[in-house]
Amino acid sequence: MRCAQEDRDEIWYNTGVKKMRKLAVCGKGGSGKSTLVTLLARGMRHKGYAVLVVDSDESNSGLYRMLGFDAAPSSLIDLIGGKKAVKQKMASKFSAAESEASMTVLEQDEIRVAEIPPEYTFSRDGIALVSVGKILQSLEGCACPMGVLSREFLRKLRLRDNEIMIVDMEAGVEHFGRGVETSIDSVLIVVEPSFDSLELAQKMNSLAAGIGINNAWVILNKITSEELASRLEAELGKRNIAVSGCIHYDAEIYEACLEGRPVYDRGAAEDIGKVLDILLE
Ligand SMILES: Nc1ncnc2c1ncn2[C@@H]1O[C@H](COP(=O)(O)OP(=O)(O)OP(=O)(O)O)[C@@H](O)[C@H]1O
Ligand SMILES: [Mg+2]
Repeated sequence: MRCAQEDRDEIWYNTGVKKMRKLAVCGKGGSGKSTLVTLLARGMRHKGYAVLVVDSDESNSGLYRMLGFDAAPSSLIDLIGGKKAVKQKMASKFSAAESEASMTVLEQDEIRVAEIPPEYTFSRDGIALVSVGKILQSLEGCACPMGVLSREFLRKLRLRDNEIMIVDMEAGVEHFGRGVETSIDSVLIVVEPSFDSLELAQKMNSLAAGIGINNAWVILNKITSEELASRLEAELGKRNIAVSGCIHYDAEIYEACLEGRPVYDRGAAEDIGKVLDILLE
């Protein structure tokens, strides 16, 4: 099995600081991952980067709407024959005693966004979107094929110089267990005001470190007062976690999500700007 460090497409600034290229946004369910992915994608695009958003959440399907697309692109899992075919491929590898952690299901060694057929990657305003795959039917079985494909796709994806990939992860920590982040260089952990979210941030921070990710940022979200921000910061401090940024509660974001409309950063622009400064520093 390749080691995580070898998998990373590392680019270093001449200052010795590792450049962020592949960012995974994770956190508790409902903490605001997809919202942050959308706002960061818009912000990075605004700064002149080409942005690829990867929807790696097997359950929720609304990211395309948040980003302003009329429909979701077809799933990458369908591009390689569908979930059933991938499962069969995995079964034959299991019988050859291959472990899931190192399993591959793609033929090619490298993937570039421009090579993905148009129905599997939609672009709008300089932001491209791909979706790994969704659970669509009851009793269709586990999401392992999507997990294996996500890990391999993220690893084999080659970005252009000015291109940044942002991955909307599934809620919780299962993806760390599957090693989906082994080729990711940066993780952004979204924390909303809840005890579970704080606990999960601590776990994610250590899981990210465990697979060699150097850049792990914790961002508070849905913050309604400076007092609340300080309280969460103190709680995270007790867990040896520093807070890198804060997005205030924004009624316009909430309304947009309620109505299934695109999410914009009008109210959160200043907060997002500060987060971007840190990520792209
Ligand atoms: N800064 C914010 N201000 C107001 N509401 C917010 C903010 N961030 C997120 N929300 C709201 O929180 C809810 C969950 O947001 P979002 O879908 O981005 O979370 P998620 O972590 O992606 O959820 P899931 O785990 O289900 O994928 C939505 O209703 C959204 O409008
Ligand atoms: Mg989401």
